[in-house]
Amino acid sequence: MPTPHEDPYRLPSIVRPSAYRLRIEPDLDAAAFTGTVEIDIEVLEATEVIVMNAVDLVLEPPVVRGAAGESSGAVEIDESTERAILTFPAPLDLGSHVLSIGFKGVLNDDLRGFYRSTFTDVEGTAHTIATTQFEATDARRAFPCFDEPAFKATFDVTLVVDGALGAFSNSRIVHEAKLGDGRREVSFAPTMTMSTYLVAFIVGPFEATPPIVVDGVPVAVVFPPGKGHLADFALDVGAFSLHFFKEYFDIPYPGDKVDLVGIPDFAYGAMENLGCVTFREAELLIDPATGSQNQLARIAMVIAHELAHMWFGDLVTMEWWEGLWLNEAFATYMQYVCIDAYKPGWQMWVRFSAEREVGLMIDGLHSTRSIEFPVHAAADAIQMADPITYQKGSSVLKMLETYLGAETFRDGIRRYLRDHAYSNTATGDLWAALEAESNEPVGEIMHSWIYQGGHPIVTVRDGTLSQKPYVLGAPDGPSSIGGPWKVPVRSRPLGGGAADRQLLTEPAALVTPQPAVVNAGGTGFYRTSYEPAQLAAIVRRLDQLSEIERAVLLQDTWALVRAGDRSVTDMLALASGLGTQVEPSCWDAVDRMLEFLDRAVSSDERALLEDRTRALLGPIFATLGWEPAAGEDERAQVLRATLVRRLGTTGADPAIRAEAASRFDSGVVDGDLADAIVAVVNSMRRPGDFEEMRQRFQDAKDPQTEERYRQGLAGVADEALCLQLLATCLDDFRMQDGPIIIARLEANPIGGRAVWEQVAVRWDELIERIPPPMHIALGLGLTAQVTDSAFAARVAAFHRAHPLDAGQKRIDQALEYLIASARLAERERPTLASTLGG
Ligand code: BES
Ligand code: ZN
Repeated sequence: MPTPHEDPYRLPSIVRPSAYRLRIEPDLDAAAFTGTVEIDIEVLEATEVIVMNAVDLVLEPPVVRGAAGESSGAVEIDESTERAILTFPAPLDLGSHVLSIGFKGVLNDDLRGFYRSTFTDVEGTAHTIATTQFEATDARRAFPCFDEPAFKATFDVTLVVDGALGAFSNSRIVHEAKLGDGRREVSFAPTMTMSTYLVAFIVGPFEATPPIVVDGVPVAVVFPPGKGHLADFALDVGAFSLHFFKEYFDIPYPGDKVDLVGIPDFAYGAMENLGCVTFREAELLIDPATGSQNQLARIAMVIAHELAHMWFGDLVTMEWWEGLWLNEAFATYMQYVCIDAYKPGWQMWVRFSAEREVGLMIDGLHSTRSIEFPVHAAADAIQMADPITYQKGSSVLKMLETYLGAETFRDGIRRYLRDHAYSNTATGDLWAALEAESNEPVGEIMHSWIYQGGHPIVTVRDGTLSQKPYVLGAPDGPSSIGGPWKVPVRSRPLGGGAADRQLLTEPAALVTPQPAVVNAGGTGFYRTSYEPAQLAAIVRRLDQLSEIERAVLLQDTWALVRAGDRSVTDMLALASGLGTQVEPSCWDAVDRMLEFLDRAVSSDERALLEDRTRALLGPIFATLGWEPAAGEDERAQVLRATLVRRLGTTGADPAIRAEAASRFDSGVVDGDLADAIVAVVNSMRRPGDFEEMRQRFQDAKDPQTEERYRQGLAGVADEALCLQLLATCLDDFRMQDGPIIIARLEANPIGGRAVWEQVAVRWDELIERIPPPMHIALGLGLTAQVTDSAFAARVAAFHRAHPLDAGQKRIDQALEYLIASARLAERERPTLASTLGG
């Protein structure tokens, strides 16, 4: 690895910034901005060259003022490394200087840097806003800066805006003045010392809720005009989470206010700018009367996630982007801790088993990666935001938390934040803090999970446990799957009794009671493979497992089926044993198997699959019915939706279809069942429904309804309509949504292959039109496809010949998954008829 001095993507550390004074004047109509920045710098080694970051900006000659007077320099931008090289006539003295630069730029449409978004409000009036998205490395597109997370500084922002427009940034407004020309100058308080990627400024016709004051800090939700009736839920969660984290971390909130801002066009889900958190509208604004529990839980988690970052990420920040995983894995873990306290009835840790499952599935591919991964160029940093970072990362933290105990873990986090506040860290600093609290070899255990890809299957045989790597795909070149791991195993006797905590290290095997539940509590990041007799004993006494253990058993069994170690028959047997428990996570695992079979069966076997689906899911649905019963488990509604969808689609259940169609036709489709009803109606292929969904999409009054019908359109069971939608989807939908619809179309069981063919034909044009942060959507839909090996190989060859600048790793994973699914289908097909009939 080159040292920072030799690496063209890293800035030299001989000049350090400590404070920025920024003045920015955006012109929304002209889609342009001008600005000036003054930076207090410390020169640590005499130099006539200052290297900083800038891209897509026009810079004026820089001026440096120091004790010895003023000096003007020349500037040159190196677009390929996104750096500005400032050269002065004579070396600058050591010590403090003020660097001033004027600049101008374009408000782009790429959803990154300082960008523009237009939208039409409920009254039909068109509006324009300008907003920022700087993570990972796009602050340099808005102003020249030292754009690396370790160059922390304070930021004083002044925005000059049109009279009537709102202006928002990271801190409270301290000064406002009218300028003679109808514009307003708005100045914000200096921020805490923080990284450039956390700076935000937003200008536009926004409205806001009255703030709730939490421990002295005002929290408000900010939204485009006319959406105030959708903001209450976010405000409630925001206020709860802010207080929750202050208590959990035992440190006051480090900013002076919190705005949660809904942005009409946003590349990601949300972004943790200090005090000015930005969100995709659908991840913030919701009508709690018509939103589903899944949607509410998602919004609650996104808000909690971003607010956790105010401490973990904003107050204490990774030294360099290879540490991004820690930021994101930890915030993902904390979103569950917080929302579990917010709504105990949602059973958040049972829900978490779905995150673990996503991480495990990707991590069984040869194209997985280690959680911590070297990062050089800007494009490498953005690629870190993937399921290995979020899902695997948070799952191994949860495993560690279980191993150390929740309180010890929390105390270690408190120590880490206290020791490194306003500063930067590497992964080892967290392990050191946890070791100091726990006296356990945390670093040693975690090394085996963080610096190699893959995870183990823990095999139980004759009362002993051993490990081997789980491998989903067939080897097809180099593999990132490593091993062995230091596996924290908690096993307990099946009949009851305390779980014991052990560390499974190769080659030593561990002794365990028989029959045992090996991953007791379900927080281990590994699969368990029981020998046949033990598995049979467990299947007979499924009621002796906790809900999460049952879910994990089903998930692990399905993963072993995918890897070729178990058969679909084993999975079906397990599913039949589930009975009529209200356990969405368990039924989700069954649902995923049925979805796979739906895509894998030939027309000869379809009737068998329909019967089998109804036999499996019918009894539990019969106990639930369509209408919520008084006093039922809060999660019954979520399960009901899963069952309606699968029975109505894969099960082709006539009664379900009739009821779904009549509810759809009534026009009132909301709440938990709504998305399921749309999916069932799609499977019925009724003429006119596609046009009806398009109309309902256009009439939608909230982001969830809009999303429901946008997705409904992409789920149409007709190849020609899929292609028609593809042809216009970048025009019909917002740029934040169009690419996601392409991914959904690629996943469509009927039209997906034809859609992909078109995407391949139009590849260059699509890459040109779609903003870079969203390019990966062009390949992600493939993960859902189950096809034949020849098609999968052709798709893989195309994408390998057309790699993305950023995100190709995830495309490679999608391709390997696609190939593995095709092979699984080919393996199972010869026996499917007897499996399903039996
Ligand atoms: N900081 C991230 C978003 C991000 C990461 C942007 C890396 C650019 C590069 C933010 O905190 C985040 O994680 N957002 C998630 C939502 C979250 C609740 C999982 C997202 O946007 O998907
Ligand atoms: Zn995050």
